Amino acid sequence: KETKLWGGRFEESVTDIVEKFTESISFDKQLYKHDIMGSKAHASMLAKQGLISVSDRDIILQGLDEIERRIEAGDFVWRTDREDVHMNIEAALTDLVGEPAKKLHTARSRNDQVLTDFRLWCRDAIDRIVASVRHLQVALLDRDAGRLLDCRARLNFCPLGACALAGTGLPIDRFMTSDSLGFTAPMRNSIDAVSDRDFVLEFLSANSIIAIHLSRLGEEWVLWASEEFGFITPSDSVSTGSSIMPQKKNPDPMELVRGKSARVIGDLVTLLTLCKGLPLAYNRDLQEDKEPTFDSVKTIIGMLEVSAEFAQNITFNGEKIQKALPAGYLDATTLADYLGLPFRTSHDIVGRAVALCVSKNCQLQDLSLDLLKSLNPVFDNDVYEFLGVENAVKKFSSYGSTGSACVADQLGYWITKLEIN
Ligand code: ARG
Repeated sequence: KETKLWGGRFEESVTDIVEKFTESISFDKQLYKHDIMGSKAHASMLAKQGLISVSDRDIILQGLDEIERRIEAGDFVWRTDREDVHMNIEAALTDLVGEPAKKLHTARSRNDQVLTDFRLWCRDAIDRIVASVRHLQVALLDRDAGRLLDCRARLNFCPLGACALAGTGLPIDRFMTSDSLGFTAPMRNSIDAVSDRDFVLEFLSANSIIAIHLSRLGEEWVLWASEEFGFITPSDSVSTGSSIMPQKKNPDPMELVRGKSARVIGDLVTLLTLCKGLPLAYNRDLQEDKEPTFDSVKTIIGMLEVSAEFAQNITFNGEKIQKALPAGYLDATTLADYLGLPFRTSHDIVGRAVALCVSKNCQLQDLSLDLLKSLNPVFDNDVYEFLGVENAVKKFSSYGSTGSACVADQLGYWITKLEIN
């Protein structure tokens, strides 16, 4: 067995069961790009500070490029006995370039390294999700992008150089590594740098809110696509069938969007629960932060993609919608406003008019003027301009209302803002 990078004080090697249980390479290998970025920034800083030679730096940088190339070509063997992505890459670099690689971990711990990688990874993931949200181009998702960008700004501080938790006595330049990795500034406190997971809690919270929005949208569309409503027809290309019922055509992608929101919320709850009892600084428990985060990001991107695809493949059935509109006496409130009496009085009069319609099985607009006048003399001939859903909706004119003109204004705003042609 190969000696562990941390093996100096150990006389026995870990058992297979412990090795398998504690490894994170099976999932944190996803961080390889960001790990290499972080190591390059760190090596360049070490050379500038005179902590390693320029020629060692160049050997390290070239070696890391070669390792990245091999990983991407599928020519890299990830080893469980090397525990995690950090030690896999460092050990492979040592295999590749020898002595200079052993200097790379100067003034660095895996504790600040993993957080540097993880923050960089989350930063990229946020950019991918924001792009997906924009692609869906639904106004109700606008604040979701904003929440992610707020989170991105808050997470963009560099933990590198915090080392295990206490920083270092070596003359490192944390501002240089922070700058070269595109962070706003180094984190101010080394213990905070390795303890904090609020950046990812915030990220998964923003994802959970997006998931809830998509789930509600999914519920609405599933309902509208049902036989009973029939307001929308999803095209065959976004529907699936039943293995027993030949007639079935199901809006399964949106049912799954609704279902997968459970995972995204679960991922957040996993992370919250993980953090709740931890004392300060790094604890190995925190290695468990990666899988829920990766799952949340993968799931939310899938949900956004499929929702956009579904939205583009829906036909609205105007006729069916039109037929359903009169059902709920939607013009009753407009009618109450028409009366112009103290509102509670108007409410009562229209309530009695509706009761009349219910008993006669008709609409408000079917009531004769005489009948209306018998309820209250204020009713006049112009009342019929307020009745019927189409008339009623035109009367809504307050800012942001559902009146036709207001909706046209709102659409205009989004078309300009989202640059839709
Ligand atoms: N694989 C570990 C993680 O992902 C790296 C940090 C190890 N630090 C430690 N104190 N054991 O969190």
